[in-house]
Amino acid sequence: MNKAVPVHAPMNQFDVKDQQLLVGGKRLDDIAALLDKEVFYAYDTEVIKRQIAIFHQHIPAAIKLHFAIKANPYPALINRMRPLVAGFDVASHKEMLLALQSGMPSEDISFAGPAKQIPEIRAAIIAGVTLHVESETELQRAIEIGQQLSVKPIVAFRVNPAFELKASGMKMGGGPKQFGIDEERLFELLPELDYSQFDFRGFHIFWGSQNLKQDAIIEAHDNTFALAQKLIDVTPVAVRTINLGGGFGIPYFAGEQRLDLTPIGQNLQRLLEQHPLMSDIELVIELGRFLVAEAGIYAAKITDIKVSRGQTFLMTNGGLHHHLSNSGNFGQVIRKNYPVAIGNKMGNVPSDAKVMAVGPLCTPLDTLADKMTLPQAEVGDWLVIFQSGAYGPTASPQDFLGHPHVTEVVL
Ligand SMILES: Cc1ncc(COP(=O)(O)O)c(C=O)c1O
Repeated sequence: MNKAVPVHAPMNQFDVKDQQLLVGGKRLDDIAALLDKEVFYAYDTEVIKRQIAIFHQHIPAAIKLHFAIKANPYPALINRMRPLVAGFDVASHKEMLLALQSGMPSEDISFAGPAKQIPEIRAAIIAGVTLHVESETELQRAIEIGQQLSVKPIVAFRVNPAFELKASGMKMGGGPKQFGIDEERLFELLPELDYSQFDFRGFHIFWGSQNLKQDAIIEAHDNTFALAQKLIDVTPVAVRTINLGGGFGIPYFAGEQRLDLTPIGQNLQRLLEQHPLMSDIELVIELGRFLVAEAGIYAAKITDIKVSRGQTFLMTNGGLHHHLSNSGNFGQVIRKNYPVAIGNKMGNVPSDAKVMAVGPLCTPLDTLADKMTLPQAEVGDWLVIFQSGAYGPTASPQDFLGHPHVTEVVL
């Protein structure tokens, strides 16, 4: 029996009209004219709103939704997100300033990240955002800086849980990690701390990222609630917030499917009922890519087509310097293709030939599509990479080889 060839999840989040892909209701030619640029990222606000609606449809209302800005720190996008979510999670001083300037209240901003530098800690204390401290030294520094400023730092502990998330794109907990304080150490520390020195909020239990397995997420939530309960039990003061992590993935590669939040939401509801004490605690799930990745495309112009020893290469004005994660060099072990289309020939039947799409960098790593079947392309067509709304320009080496930076637009 022939094994079915895995295919990409359908990229049906955007409308198509007259074979033209529409992002924010606009054709790629029109977006290019609007920007006066022939290579760009475009983000569709309606698709973001749909993802947020899916979250609220399934996840109990008692759990708040925060956006992890690192997934897409484009200022206009952050400003659009501001009224759509209950808070922002930031990972640097710059992200913190963007979050504050969007108008998000400081009490709804949390700052997590290993190796926070002293000026970052100082700025966070002045701003009044919650510091998710990741080491005992960081706590001590926050207390000392707070004393110098006569301001009590607002502190939550990032926990490095002992459990490890199965089947995660990126594991951020379990085993030795640079993130957070080991849970076993916290059990010793929490009963002894002088809580008059800081404004204690609670815990941040982040276990991983880009997970598409409902069962693994359910297990991580079970473990997170159990750990949170144990931490609460040894903490002599009130716990006001628990960040339950995030980790919801999106389908990038052939064979992957969209996450069904139904069983995840049902399990969270069960956990809330099992832990009535949690009803007095603000619970948060923080998501990056789940909210924004599906809403973004990267569009590059095909500027030349060449054939080398029988292999067709679509040569484009875009590449790895704009979109490192699509090139397979941002955490993937083996490069796999993102979903790709010819944005002005949507619905055209793919030709039999497997083509390469590449960029202008002098490295074979600069591959946008590796032996994919695409509709017959011509010079002037649009090569579109879907699932590009997260970890795009700011996760890419834009200065590498000195080609122009990419433009972004929120539609
Ligand atoms: C602490 C923390 N929060 C949130 C995220 C966002 O993850 P994702 O974009 O997969 O939702 C990450 C990713 O590394 C993270 O480390």
